[in-house]
Amino acid sequence: MASKDLTNFTEYQSKDVQLEAFGEEDSKCKELILSLPKEYYGVPNHYFYFFQGFWPKDSDVVVASMPKTGTTWLKALTFAIVNRNRFSSLENHPLLTSNSHELVPSLESNVYVDTISQFPKFDILNMIEPRLFGTHIPFASLAKSIKESNCKIIYICRNPFDTYVSYWNFMNKISLNFDFPTITIEDDFERYCKGICHVGSFWDHVLGYLNESIARPDKVLFMKYEDLKENGNSHVKRIAEFLDCPFTQEEESNGVIENIINLCSFKKMKELEANKFGEFGRKIEKNYLFRKAEVGDWINYLSPSMVEKLSKIIEEKFSGSGLSFKVCT
Ligand code: A3P
Repeated sequence: MASKDLTNFTEYQSKDVQLEAFGEEDSKCKELILSLPKEYYGVPNHYFYFFQGFWPKDSDVVVASMPKTGTTWLKALTFAIVNRNRFSSLENHPLLTSNSHELVPSLESNVYVDTISQFPKFDILNMIEPRLFGTHIPFASLAKSIKESNCKIIYICRNPFDTYVSYWNFMNKISLNFDFPTITIEDDFERYCKGICHVGSFWDHVLGYLNESIARPDKVLFMKYEDLKENGNSHVKRIAEFLDCPFTQEEESNGVIENIINLCSFKKMKELEANKFGEFGRKIEKNYLFRKAEVGDWINYLSPSMVEKLSKIIEEKFSGSGLSFKVCT
């Protein structure tokens, strides 16, 4: 790894206990990690490391989301949009052989520390520009450098009912792999309503990015899963315009937008070998990312009292925000 690559990160998290497992070729990386200030954060043998000097490139794009809101889809679309001239032939498009999380790595789960290898993946930074990253980190907790640089953020949100049901199904699949007890929807739903959830409460997460998109529309593009499903064409155009690579008239007439939508469609992606087999996180199979992709599937899981409770919370938390959710087809 060239040393210039190491100047790119401020905060860095890794498992200290496994540092000795670095191979010879990773020695620079190990050297770097050992030289960083570290803080214990409560999990035995795990530390946060502090790495100064991370400045995202202005051309970087960050796909941000709450888990289960359509991250996999938006990553695929963004990758296909910005790279459409590099991969104009759809026959050997990288999205046919790689999962979108591999093409658009997560800052917290791949770059700072890869959840499978437990090592950082600094080499990811050698990506061709514009570099695309993903994150589930709430806006308030993003590195200052991301907030203050000119890199762009595209945020996707989804109605809280389907997001929750998708999340609960996903967590149960993972629990099974770890031999953890089944998570009952009753207990888990109570936690969700209290905001006890991976990466924080749904409402704070959404409002953080929504407010920033209102204050800085050139910096944050706020999208909704349901809108993308309903009118893919106009939203794909919106993404391209936001990223300063609008579709030309010629591209539009040649069906480039439709091709991208088809390439990234749920039906297409779910059936690819690259998405059917293998892990995308430790003991998390790629196929868990593709379940039903429906608007309104929550009706099959949530009781009337659950719906009433969550509706009240949503009404209260989002009142005055101008945000509304489509909850059924
Ligand atoms: P369901 O569990 O409701 O089916 P994330 O990518 O943020 O983890 O979100 C996963 C949700 O998005 C899952 O929802 C999944 O089925 C759906 N999804 C995955 N790929 C999709 C695609 N290409 N188009 C639409 N939805 C997709």
